[in-house]
Amino acid sequence: MSDQREPSVVSGKSFTAVAINCAAKAGEWIKTKLGNYNRLDTKYSSHDLVTEVDKGSEQLIKKLVLTHFPHHSFLGEEGVEPGPEASAQALADKSEAEYLWIVDPIDGTTNFVHGFPFFVVSIALAYKGEVIVGVVYDPMKDELFLAEKGKGAYVSGKRMQVSKEETLSSSLIATGFPADHLYALPLNLKGIQALAPQVRNLRSSGSAALHMAYVAAGRLTGFWEIGLNSWDLAAGSLLVQESGGIVTDTQGKSYHLGVRNVAASNGLMHEPFLKALAVAEATE
Ligand code: IPD
Ligand code: CA
Ligand code: CA
Repeated sequence: MSDQREPSVVSGKSFTAVAINCAAKAGEWIKTKLGNYNRLDTKYSSHDLVTEVDKGSEQLIKKLVLTHFPHHSFLGEEGVEPGPEASAQALADKSEAEYLWIVDPIDGTTNFVHGFPFFVVSIALAYKGEVIVGVVYDPMKDELFLAEKGKGAYVSGKRMQVSKEETLSSSLIATGFPADHLYALPLNLKGIQALAPQVRNLRSSGSAALHMAYVAAGRLTGFWEIGLNSWDLAAGSLLVQESGGIVTDTQGKSYHLGVRNVAASNGLMHEPFLKALAVAEATE
């Protein structure tokens, strides 16, 4: 039965088309603002940046999504008070939503501010708490990563598959330096200290969503970070899963929208990966 209020919702395809359109439009606009933003503010800490471009990107996406799907719910980073408690609460407030769009209008704002070309627009659609569409768009490389639940994941139209490394010693793993320096950063540093000598190498390029997309594309073996938010991870989680990888929290529990401490990998080295973090007491 079609829903009279949402005549254009006939299949997952129209959701996906809107997600792609939003990400492409926002990404193209963000690119024109590189080196050209007007206002830089800090949020939760002096390491947590926001510009008018983050806010403008979110407005653009929100307007487009709600034009197509006026009865859907929307959770965007810039509509939420800064800090981990407010983020968790904002997600809890939307827990009853049937369709929920989860958006990071620029993931990698620090990079955007410095002109370091590694930032994305991240858009996910969850149905009853489960991500069914994930889009991560890198405007600098014009690469669009897309996944639909049960239908695989693609980068610029090409099917993605996670990498094949089976050991830590052959793995290239990414992490982040969280803006929360009280709780998240010290834990992540413990993980970095433990993993650095065990893996082929570590990377930290400043966009959790793009790191997740790179795990999906087989360019990274794994990614972990403490203290992330739903909008950093929702789209990327589906990309990794639909590319044959695994996404859990750092203690090994299955991914859900509330996960803040994430470990994503090709699956083959997930066990030693989690074990190394546990031994280092770097998981919570
Ligand atoms: C940040 C990026 C960064 C990660 C931080 C995030 P933002 O998101 O994903 O890689 O280390 O923890 O907050 O603030 O650029 O949207
Ligand atoms: Ca982010
Ligand atoms: Ca952001």
